[in-house]
Amino acid sequence: MDKAGYHRDTWIDIDLDAIRHNVREMKKHLLDKEVFAVVKADAYGHGEVEVAQAALEAGATTLAVAILDEALRLRKHFKEIPIIVMGWTSPDYVQLAAENGITLTAFQTEWIEQAKGQLEDQDLSIHLKVDTGMGRIGIRSVEEAYDVIRACNDSNIRITGVFTHFATADEEDLKYFHQQLGAFRQWLKQVKPYLPDSITIHIGNSAASMRFPNDMYDGVRFGISMYGLYPSKPIKAEKPINLKPAFALYSKLIHVKWIHKGDAISYGATYRAPEDEWIGTIPIGYGDGWIRKLQNFEIQIENQLFPIVGRICMDQCMIKLDQRYELGTTVTLIGSQESSLVTMDDVADHLETINYEIPCMLGERIPRFYKNKH
Ligand SMILES: Cc1ncc(COP(=O)(O)O)c(C=O)c1O
Repeated sequence: MDKAGYHRDTWIDIDLDAIRHNVREMKKHLLDKEVFAVVKADAYGHGEVEVAQAALEAGATTLAVAILDEALRLRKHFKEIPIIVMGWTSPDYVQLAAENGITLTAFQTEWIEQAKGQLEDQDLSIHLKVDTGMGRIGIRSVEEAYDVIRACNDSNIRITGVFTHFATADEEDLKYFHQQLGAFRQWLKQVKPYLPDSITIHIGNSAASMRFPNDMYDGVRFGISMYGLYPSKPIKAEKPINLKPAFALYSKLIHVKWIHKGDAISYGATYRAPEDEWIGTIPIGYGDGWIRKLQNFEIQIENQLFPIVGRICMDQCMIKLDQRYELGTTVTLIGSQESSLVTMDDVADHLETINYEIPCMLGERIPRFYKNKH
């Protein structure tokens, strides 16, 4: 059910041309290796169907998600496109995946045995996940790989790909990244003779694919940078490719008032005006994912920044202004243009987190509008 608030003045614009631009830039950078569009978690909060469509238009070949439900929803819109679930799926659902032509991730012999018991006569495509140091899920040795491959023999489970995931590809110090890459190469050398020739090998996230395009085998899983964000500060400084952010968050002033020195603002009356001043109210709050820790964060009106003062409420917050602005004046909380004074990275810095978390936490109450939809 759509839970967006279309009748209030807070909204997100998603520029689908930015998504297309970023996919094309990555394809160029990779000299045409495959780009898998990572659209899990509602396309990092950008909208799974619209982003997937734009990414495919720009040349992405596969959609990558984290859970089976995401894959099943996308399958309704994209009948022929390869879709892979990169997380663990219960073997109880392998028949459902097989019927819908969805590739699952596998790495446990017991899982293969249980899956064989669940599958009817369809083939199930799986990609083997290798844990080279992320420590999350995956096969950790050559012997385990042999067991998994053996378990697949004489069944309708087809190994169509192999992948791993890097823990530190975005960092300044790349020693651990190179250890993981070396471990993967070693593993592959020993296991490849037992795998079908046609498998797809993909190891890179945005960071690895931007920094090491020549090491990326057949394709990359392009997540954060498809949305126009650099995975870390070092990569933002390196700028291996030129990205365009797709996401912008706006609201409007719904109330403007003159208050006197000592007057209080919001719950707890913690903010006291240090002098007579203008205060504006905007309709967004922690119920939208604009959390209380964003107090004091500065947002943009025209070409200036103004701080959020007092506690952020569930649905509203207040900003200190330098003059009376008209009701309905647009406020930019996150801009998508180079000229914007506030970026997703600024919000992440204020919250001492990574930019990935910000669009994911801005909830479904804020409607997403799509620019440049074909
Ligand atoms: C297995 C896997 N591959 C690829 C990605 C995409 O990573 P990024 O968003 O850093 O490009 C993710 C996202 O976390 C992931 O879990």
